Amino acid sequence: MRIRKLLVSVVGVAIALTAAAVPASSSVAIVGGTKASTTDYPFAVFLTTPDNFQFCGGTLVAPDKVVTAAHCAKGQQPEGVFVVAGRDDKQATTTGVSVPVKNIWVHPRYTDALVGEDVAVLTLAKRVGYRTIPLATEQDEVLYEPETPATILGWGRTASGGVTSQYLLKATVPVVSDQDCKQSFAKYNPAAMVCAGYPQGGIDGCQGDSGGPMVAGGKLIGVSSWGEGCGLPNKPGVYTRVVAYAKELAQQIKPTPVP
Ligand code: ARG
Repeated sequence: MRIRKLLVSVVGVAIALTAAAVPASSSVAIVGGTKASTTDYPFAVFLTTPDNFQFCGGTLVAPDKVVTAAHCAKGQQPEGVFVVAGRDDKQATTTGVSVPVKNIWVHPRYTDALVGEDVAVLTLAKRVGYRTIPLATEQDEVLYEPETPATILGWGRTASGGVTSQYLLKATVPVVSDQDCKQSFAKYNPAAMVCAGYPQGGIDGCQGDSGGPMVAGGKLIGVSSWGEGCGLPNKPGVYTRVVAYAKELAQQIKPTPVP
């Protein structure tokens, strides 16, 4: 049967092409990432429960302030959340610090990550000495231009439905235009979100990375928020658009006067 044979070979070539298009490393990290160190990214922190279970990421933006996702913080009591800084390996106990949280601010209009306003600020019980990163402001709109390379960091899953990473992982993904992201997700709202990823997929954030940083030009431009699966073609990661909340965040982050 000629037709059948032809079909089989066409399908075969298609599979081979797909395999080639998706980086072979797609199971290594974040999804398709590589190992990173908090020495190079000291502002990358993770959130744990009191029994040391890592459930989200965060970004140190002041010595006692961490930006994370609202969906990581909503409904939590400060007693239920610890911020771990300076620790690449989640199982390490002696490197870095695990700091209690004394206050949680969740964006007042937050309801659901798919709607927007997926941002929160944790105030730490004490200041930590790790390098912070500034938030993107109105002057940084250029960093949201499509194709801008953005670095994402986290301890989340390394594959859809897989286990989370023991070590900090990072990946670089290009910012996706609002138009393209709207094509991917009807719920995409460019006033509240920004997307990043490759059309062919393979490199992306995943569950457990939420709340963690998306960095470009030395500024925090996004907060890991949501996606569909992880690393799927034409399904970029969706991040909270930090510049959209610059004023509210600055208000939350401004130093509490020391008596
Ligand atoms: N909502 C997820 C979390 O709670 C983050 C999902 C990011 N997904 C993605 N495909 N980029 O950790």
